[in-house]
Amino acid sequence: MSPLVFNTPEELQAWRSNLPAGTTVGFVPTMGALHKGHETLLQKSVSENQITVLSIFVNPTQFNDKKDFEKYPLTMEADLALAKKNGVHAVFNPIYSSMYPDDYRYKISENDFSKKLCGKDRPGHFDGVLTVVMKLLNLVQPQKAYFGEKDYQQLHLIQGLVEAFFLPYKIVPVATVREADGLAMSSRNVRLSPTERAWAPKIHQLMKTATTASEAKKILENDGVEVDYLEDLDGRRFAAVRVGEVRLIDNVKI
Ligand code: PAJ
Repeated sequence: MSPLVFNTPEELQAWRSNLPAGTTVGFVPTMGALHKGHETLLQKSVSENQITVLSIFVNPTQFNDKKDFEKYPLTMEADLALAKKNGVHAVFNPIYSSMYPDDYRYKISENDFSKKLCGKDRPGHFDGVLTVVMKLLNLVQPQKAYFGEKDYQQLHLIQGLVEAFFLPYKIVPVATVREADGLAMSSRNVRLSPTERAWAPKIHQLMKTATTASEAKKILENDGVEVDYLEDLDGRRFAAVRVGEVRLIDNVKI
């Protein structure tokens, strides 16, 4: 069956409140351009819950680079087909104004971990993420919400959000899904040129094999790419690398 599609919070809330009491609801928030990484989250949710809700919303408040926002791939038809194939029950695809009736006067901030790694050179990014995730969780009211370890800092901050505000939702982490050559799957990978795509797996290879983060950073920079950060923190190695116009992130346990 094709999933139901809702374009406003009101439509979603009306449907949600009519589900029989006790129905288990799983939720997978995304920005669309779905790939096998997203699909793995959806499959986990479908297998663990009676109902699965997928949201597709390219959230402008988490982009501090306007060009990155404008170039974010949109593949709605293919996304809906993938949702259908995997047994997703409802897709929430809101327009900006319906998600931000306050025009973003109210926001959620975190003041420590969000300032590191991806937060250092993307001011406001995690405010946008935490705010939209809080809104989405409160609209969908799932028992479980699924997030990828690919965005480890995001996952960690969302776990902290749920604890700090006593939100009654369980955050379920899902391991990073990779291409056969090790490159972490990402909606941005389609923007890599063939040469860049062929080079990109080197990031993950080096993160796994280099003795130190600074050694890995040097080797990557020698290849002519810009490394935003490559550092070890709390038993993980994190990297963000600009390959041409595309910013790729990855992390591995060390
Ligand atoms: P998006 O980048 O579309 O990712 C949606 C979810 O899919 C996130 O939890 C992300 O970690 C997970 N994901 C992406 N690639 C993955 C991979 N290769 N392996 C495993 N999981 C993967 O992250 C966002 O959207 C947004 O910030 C969002 C949370 C939706 C808020 O706007």
